[in-house]
Amino acid sequence: MPITLTPEERRRFKTHGRKKGFLKAKDAEHLSENLPGLTVKQSANRIELLKQFEKVSTTTKLWLEIGFGNGEYLAHLAALNPDDCFIGVDVFQEGVSALLRRLERQNSSNVRVGVDNANIVLLEKIPFNSLDRVVINFPDPWPKKRHHKRRLIQSEFLDLLAQRMISGGKISLATDWAEYSEWMLEHLEVHKEFKNTIANGGFAPQPDNWLITSFQKKGQKAGRPARHLLFDRR
Ligand SMILES: C[S@@+](CC[C@H](N)C(=O)[O-])C[C@H]1O[C@@H](n2cnc3c(N)ncnc32)[C@H](O)[C@@H]1O
Repeated sequence: MPITLTPEERRRFKTHGRKKGFLKAKDAEHLSENLPGLTVKQSANRIELLKQFEKVSTTTKLWLEIGFGNGEYLAHLAALNPDDCFIGVDVFQEGVSALLRRLERQNSSNVRVGVDNANIVLLEKIPFNSLDRVVINFPDPWPKKRHHKRRLIQSEFLDLLAQRMISGGKISLATDWAEYSEWMLEHLEVHKEFKNTIANGGFAPQPDNWLITSFQKKGQKAGRPARHLLFDRR
């Protein structure tokens, strides 16, 4: 059963980086009108959570994308998999606004959002054994050693994800920061609830139906190729 954190508990999860950005008045209005109806709510279990979506079948998969940025990849996945349900998590208001606009343009109704730190959304809104797929693309690399503790991928965070995923679920990650890709691999390889889908360990091929986001393009221009990881939840 998800929990409601006290204000003190919430303060443990400080989110670094941009939160507001610039929103035109009409986008701010659009966001305040539409976000409440699309915000994921607390539910007791996976079945209750899926009831928050309009269309669900026995084969529906529940996806979570953490740090969706401006929503390019999440909207792309939602359009490719119209019978699946998606939850996107990010703290960046301008990106949330961009995502809602995209979903409206492409007429997708299979996405809900959590606008908060990913740890808080997982703890409060995602029941145990719920997620079939988790996607984490280009999380902030925090390259300086003294900032490594700000990185999203930490053992404790993987414990939380593992709890919320179903057995047999899949987690995919991408980064264009070589040292962070090694860090991700090390953390996932030693975690007892995850197993690399790549037989002899190492990085995975680029996922099928991949979309190069504007964020990835910047990395490519700067000479940083992306690396991918794909792990099973045991
Ligand atoms: C570098 S961007 C990548 C955006 C996107 N995934 C892409 O590939 O274009 C990282 C995103 O993660 C979000 N983020 C960082 N830390 C977060 C956290 N703890 N919880 C939720 N979102 C977070 C940031 O706001 C930002 O939008």
